[in-house]
Amino acid sequence: MTLQTPVLYTPDLEVVQPDEPETQAQLVDTLLSMAKTMADHTGHAERGVHAKSHGLLRGELRVLDGLPPSLAQGLFAAPGSYAAVLRLSTPPAEKLDDRVSLPRGLALKILDVGGERVEGSEQDHTQDFLFVDGPTFSAPDAKGFLKSLKLLASTTDHAPGLKKALSSVLQGAEKAVEAVGGKSATLVALGGHPETHPLGATFFTEVPVRYGAHVAKLQLAPVSPALTALAGRPIDLDGKPDGTRDAVVAFFADAGAGPAEWELRVQLCMDVEKMPIEDASVEWPEALSPFVAVARLTVGPQDAWSDARVREIDEGMAFNPWHALAAHRPLGGVMRARRVAYAASAAFRGKRNGCPLHEPRPAGELP
Ligand code: HEM
Repeated sequence: MTLQTPVLYTPDLEVVQPDEPETQAQLVDTLLSMAKTMADHTGHAERGVHAKSHGLLRGELRVLDGLPPSLAQGLFAAPGSYAAVLRLSTPPAEKLDDRVSLPRGLALKILDVGGERVEGSEQDHTQDFLFVDGPTFSAPDAKGFLKSLKLLASTTDHAPGLKKALSSVLQGAEKAVEAVGGKSATLVALGGHPETHPLGATFFTEVPVRYGAHVAKLQLAPVSPALTALAGRPIDLDGKPDGTRDAVVAFFADAGAGPAEWELRVQLCMDVEKMPIEDASVEWPEALSPFVAVARLTVGPQDAWSDARVREIDEGMAFNPWHALAAHRPLGGVMRARRVAYAASAAFRGKRNGCPLHEPRPAGELP
């Protein structure tokens, strides 16, 4: 029997395509056009995507003790605790009624991290990981994503009523598919995401990062009973356009609900053919490499939504996979495109709102 070992990171695992700069420029144009359309309409600039947030949280990330050498890498090389900031979101440029149910994002910013940084992030002290509640990205590469984004841009700020109607039709269809024992990925991708509690969801980075000597995708999975009880649980959105946020705020306002705890898990790349770096639409088989816990994220009772937090976190911060240690360099074409896209979106917000974005102050000074 041959024992499989994790792939060793080398820069040539990434394969840059000649037309990437053109695709990236078009992505930035499209994202900014969406952000500008919305800013002209509302008078305030928001993120080009993931504009609506459902909770702004502070927590603590504890790196586990006794990790084996292949997992004790980068930020996870030694046990320790870090303050963290979380932002829950949904993807569009518009802040739609929650009945237009959509995938959920969870952005995690780990504060006061030491070590060598990726280029462009030398001045920062944070490690950001961004997650969505599905294992793969909707397109294999940035070019594929640009096509859907252009379609989305053409509908931005048009016919929210129609989107709501479309979404409820899709949800109905999704429920019908589930009733006969299936789950339709196509319907989910089209916006028929079930109206479930985001705190019960499992989140994925979908695309890989360098993991010290290796390469990995990450997952954030709910583990405390208070969270696992919410898995798949519907939320009441009747007459509540911001019902998802209401549910998150209610959970963290209840001091007796018990701590919210997630495991941060790592799936090491064992085979670059079956676990590709450049194709973001391929799910890495867990049979080849399961997700294994490397840290625990704990979020206690708190006010998950306040004016001070909106100013400091929603408006004042940018979550960006390129706020990173060199040991967790984002990898693959989608990640390379994100490098220019996130910076452009954050710069637009800062300029239009007259408030440049900054990486956070020491954790103790956050509201
Ligand atoms: C080429 C592909 C992608 C592009 C161009 C893109 C672009 C963007 C942009 C411009 C923002 C707003 C940044 C800001 O204003 O601060 C954003 C936010 C976000 N993206 Fe992406 N993205 C891509 C892929 C992904 C993938 C694969 C994930 C999966 C995990 C993801 C998850 C998120 C999340 C969770 C946020 C919200 C961050 C926050 O709360 O501030 N994105 N994206």
